[in-house]
Amino acid sequence: MRLIAASQATILTLRCDEHAGQNGRITTDSQTEYSITQRHPIEEAESEMSDQNSKPTTTDAGIPVASDEQSLSVGPDGPLLLQDHYLIEQMANFNRERIPERQPHAKGGGAFGHFRTTADVSQYTKAALFQFGVETDVVMRFSTVAGERGSPDTWRDPRGFSVKFYTSEGNYDMVGNNTPIFFIRDPMKFQHFIRSQKRRAANNLRDHDMQWDFWTLSPESAHQVAWLMGDRGIPKSWRQMNGYSSHTYMWVNASGERFWVKYHFKTDQGVEHLTQDEADHLAGADADYHQRDLFNSIEGNAFPSWTLHMQIMPFEEAENYRFNPFDLTKVWPHADYPLMEVGKLTLNRNLTDYHSENEQAAFEPNNLVPGIGLSPDKMLLARGFSYSDAHRARLGVNYRQIPVNQPKAPVHSYSKDGAMRVQNISDPVYAPNSYGGPKADPERFPEDAVWASSGNMVRSAYTLHKDDDDWGQAGTLVREVMDDAARERLVSNVVGHLKAGVSQPILQRAFEYWRNIDSDIGDRIADGVTGS
Ligand code: HEM
Repeated sequence: MRLIAASQATILTLRCDEHAGQNGRITTDSQTEYSITQRHPIEEAESEMSDQNSKPTTTDAGIPVASDEQSLSVGPDGPLLLQDHYLIEQMANFNRERIPERQPHAKGGGAFGHFRTTADVSQYTKAALFQFGVETDVVMRFSTVAGERGSPDTWRDPRGFSVKFYTSEGNYDMVGNNTPIFFIRDPMKFQHFIRSQKRRAANNLRDHDMQWDFWTLSPESAHQVAWLMGDRGIPKSWRQMNGYSSHTYMWVNASGERFWVKYHFKTDQGVEHLTQDEADHLAGADADYHQRDLFNSIEGNAFPSWTLHMQIMPFEEAENYRFNPFDLTKVWPHADYPLMEVGKLTLNRNLTDYHSENEQAAFEPNNLVPGIGLSPDKMLLARGFSYSDAHRARLGVNYRQIPVNQPKAPVHSYSKDGAMRVQNISDPVYAPNSYGGPKADPERFPEDAVWASSGNMVRSAYTLHKDDDDWGQAGTLVREVMDDAARERLVSNVVGHLKAGVSQPILQRAFEYWRNIDSDIGDRIADGVTGS
C-alpha cells in the first residue's frame, strides 16, 4: 500500500503490488479506496517501508525520474525545458513504437505451448523432435492473409498456421495454412496474387472485381477458391480449424532413406465455421474475435490442442503418382496415402508482450532440421528465400537474437556484427581456422535431404501427371466432401461475393469458372447473380 497526497476530504489509495503494470506502474484500486483525515504513526511507518520496496519509475537507462505526470517548466505556467530528458525519451520512444507490419499475414495472434511425439516414426525421419516421447517447446501464430494489422479476424480468407519448434537441433518452423492447398503453383504469381486480394491503387479499397479477375485468369486457383468460398473460409475460431503444411516436404531417416510427406494438424476442438452473416456482424462488433477467443481459452485453462497426422509417400512413388505430388493446388487423396498419427500440439501459455513475442516473431520455411527437407515444389523453394529476406527487411539482420526467435539449441555460427546485434562473438571469426572454432560435421549432419535434377533451363509449367487438371479436385470437393446444405451456403457465398462489385466480362468468366468446377453449381451461381 502507498498513500499519496490527498485533497482535504479524501485520500486516494493506490496499490503497488503484483497487479501493478510492468516497471512498477501504479493502478488505482477502487476496492481498497477509503478516506482518512490523519495518518496513524504505524500507518506512517508502514507507508515508508513500502515506499522503499516499491519500484520507482526510471528512464530506459535505469535512472529514477522525478515525476510521472509533470514536465519540467520555467515556473508553473512557463515554457518547457529542453533538458527534460525524460519527457523527450517518452515522446521519442512513442514515435518509434510501430514497426512495419508483415506483408502479407499482418493481422494475427498466438501463444506458447509444446509438441509431444506419441508414435514411433523413426523409420521415416531422424529429426530429434519426431522421436517417440520427445516433447518440444513451441510458439505459434495464427493470422489472416489479406487484411492489415487492425483488420477484422472474421473476414473470408485463408488463415495462417505457423509453428516454431525449439528443437534440440535448432529451430524448425512449419509455416502452413488452414487449407491443404493454395491458389497458385508458381512463385512468379505470388506477389500479383497478394496484390489482387489487397487494395487498389487509386481508391485504396479492397475490390472483388480485382480478386475475381485474377482468379478467373488463373484456373489453377479453382480448388482453393472452392475451399475458401465454402464453410472453411471463415473458421469459428483459431482453435476450431485444422492446420496443414499444404506443401510436400521430405523426411529422411537415420539410414538416409527419403520419403515425401504432408502434415495435417487436426483440431481436437472439432472443426466449426461462422456463416457469412455471423462473420459480417462480428467484423463490426468485435474485430479481434479470434484473438480474444484464444487468449481467453488459455487464460481459463482450456488449452487448445491439435493431433498431428502425416501422409507419407515412398520416395520412388512420386514420379508416377497420378497427381504431381509437388503441385500445391492438389491434395493426395487419403485413400492413396492414409493419415498416420504422430503427435500432439498443445498451447498452454499466453504471450505477455504481444509486440516482442508475436509482432517480432519470425517464422521461416527455411528453418529445417536434420531429417526434414524441402521438395521440388517451386512455391516452397521460393518461400525458402522469401521469409528470411522479409525478416531482415522488417526486423533487421539480427532478428534471430530477438528472444522469441532465439533457438534453445546452442548457436555456433560465423555471422557477426550488423545493426542491433546483442550477443557477443569471439575469435576466430573465419573458417577454416587453426584456433578451435566451430567446424561442420558432414559425417553426423550430411546434406541428405536432396533429389536428382537435370534438364535445360526453362520457364515452364510443371510436367502433368495422369490425373492432373485444374478443375477435377475442386469438383470432387464440391460434389463429394460438401453436403447439400454446405453446397447451398457455397452458392450463396459466391453469389454475394460476385454481386458486390464484379463487372463484365469478369462476371461471365466467373460463371464459366464455376461451371468448369461443377456445371450445376455454376448454373446456380449464374442464376443467383443474374436473378433468372
Ligand atoms: C511463393 C509463395 C509464397 C511467398 C513468396 C510467401 C511470402 C510470404 C511473406 C514475405 C510473408 C511475410 C513474412 C513476415 O514478414 O513475417 C509471408 C507470411 C506468411 N505466409 Fe507466405 N508466402 C508464400 C506462400 C505461402 C503458402 C503456400 C503458405 C501456406 C502453406 C504461406 C503461409 C504464410 C504464413 C502462415 C505467413 C505468416 C507467418 C507468421 O505467422 O508470421 N505462404 N509469406
